[in-house]
Amino acid sequence: TQTVVVAVDGPSGSGKSTVSKRLAAKLDARYLDTGAMYRAATWAVLQADAQLTDPDGIYKIVSAASLEIVTDPQAPSISVDGVNVDGPIRGQEVTKAVSAVAAVPAVRQLLVDLQRKIIAEAGRIVVEGRDIGTVVAPDADLKVYLTASEHARAARRSAEHAADHAATAADLRRRDHLDSTRKTDPLKQAADAVVLDSTELGIDEVVAELLRLLDK
Ligand code: C5P
Repeated sequence: TQTVVVAVDGPSGSGKSTVSKRLAAKLDARYLDTGAMYRAATWAVLQADAQLTDPDGIYKIVSAASLEIVTDPQAPSISVDGVNVDGPIRGQEVTKAVSAVAAVPAVRQLLVDLQRKIIAEAGRIVVEGRDIGTVVAPDADLKVYLTASEHARAARRSAEHAADHAATAADLRRRDHLDSTRKTDPLKQAADAVVLDSTELGIDEVVAELLRLLDK
């Protein structure tokens, strides 16, 4: 089987996870959720009671934590020091704090290195995040920038978490602002990315379009 790397970037709630998992399964490839890595790092920071305003303290904790990542698109999973954190990393506490941890340059360097290692070992892999096409895997075979209207993004997230639409919309806006304005590796469209809008296309159509693009 040939190697293939697909980079899927975009703001929160754009459908990246669903699209990336389905595409990986269709390609018989691995799936890496880099957001889950930043979330797991954040979980470790919160466990240790570190100050979110102390980059050195944050880095110390993250660099001492060992992340184990399962890249099966049917059952992706992540553990920190042997503790499965799939549930807690989706909670409010982690979601609120993650952009601060992800803004620490030394943390990004550490996780980007780990991501590159996982990609190299996998060979065939779909990777989703914010900086995959721009920083982590600039040589990816296909770069996708997935968007959706803010309304559609908030609706998806609030359905997933049984949360209030207005509160979810406010959280997405806050996170997207932090993620796209931070100094190190902000959320940005790669110059050569294919831009797809999942508001109009729908998830299945997006996956079909990506398979078509990879076939070319
Ligand atoms: O994709 P998800 O919403 O789970 O990502 C959680 C957070 O992790 C983002 O809001 C962002 O702060 C950070 N992140 C990042 N770079 C990535 C993936 C996620 O900074 N490649």
